[in-house]
Amino acid sequence: MSGSPVVAVLPAAGSGVRLGAGVPKAFVEVGGVPMLVRAVDGLLGSGVVDHVVVVVPAEQVHDAVGLLPGRPVTVVPGGADRTASVAAGLAATRPDAEVVLVHDAARPLTPAGVVRRVVDAVRAGAPAVIPVLPVTDTVKTVDPAGTVLSTVDRSTLRAVQTPQGFRARELRLAYASGPDPATDDAGLVEALGEPVATVAGDPLAFKVTTGWDLRIAGLLLGGAPDEGVGIE
Ligand code: CTP
Ligand code: MG
Repeated sequence: MSGSPVVAVLPAAGSGVRLGAGVPKAFVEVGGVPMLVRAVDGLLGSGVVDHVVVVVPAEQVHDAVGLLPGRPVTVVPGGADRTASVAAGLAATRPDAEVVLVHDAARPLTPAGVVRRVVDAVRAGAPAVIPVLPVTDTVKTVDPAGTVLSTVDRSTLRAVQTPQGFRARELRLAYASGPDPATDDAGLVEALGEPVATVAGDPLAFKVTTGWDLRIAGLLLGGAPDEGVGIE
């Protein structure tokens, strides 16, 4: 580990309505390990993250602490939306952190290379960095009835992943200026007029949102084809 401390905020306080597992999504297992544990270990295993602030539903703080023995983590209760949860996590980060990552617990298979590329780009001077992938589908805008209005120029589009990385000062300023729940973390820094740099994302950093995604994640970890939540 070189340079100033790198802290990651891991929002894991969502309820996972679209997954519908009956427990908060971050506590759902992928390949026998809860997503939030995979996400924490992925960050720490990258070798470039010193500490993780895990943000979970208030009633799950005790359980989360129990799932993460021996790791350099702090567990705090989250808020009503992701922005409020990240703000709670940010408030609990150590003051000497100079680089802060924000990473969804719902991206449990994120490779170390993505984490390292993001941290390297912040260390190289970028105030905000996001991992992105090209958009491979054709994208169209439609009216409320579903009739096509236009075809978007795909070459300029990028799908955005996490971890997103920031100079701590900029991210704290962005959240202090009254976060807009409609934008992502980098969008808040963008709104301050700061440039947001991009690095290559990775298909494995996909977000587990639905039962289909959970099934794919299980298969990627070598699970039986019928593992998952029953999408046939
Ligand atoms: N998140 C959070 N606090 C919230 C809402 C979301 O920390 N109040 C976190 C989730 O736990 C997840 C990440 O933000 O790791 C991305 O959110 P999303 O994929 O939308 O997860 P959920 O909000 O849990 O899912 P859903 O929207 O289907 O309910
Ligand atoms: Mg959500």
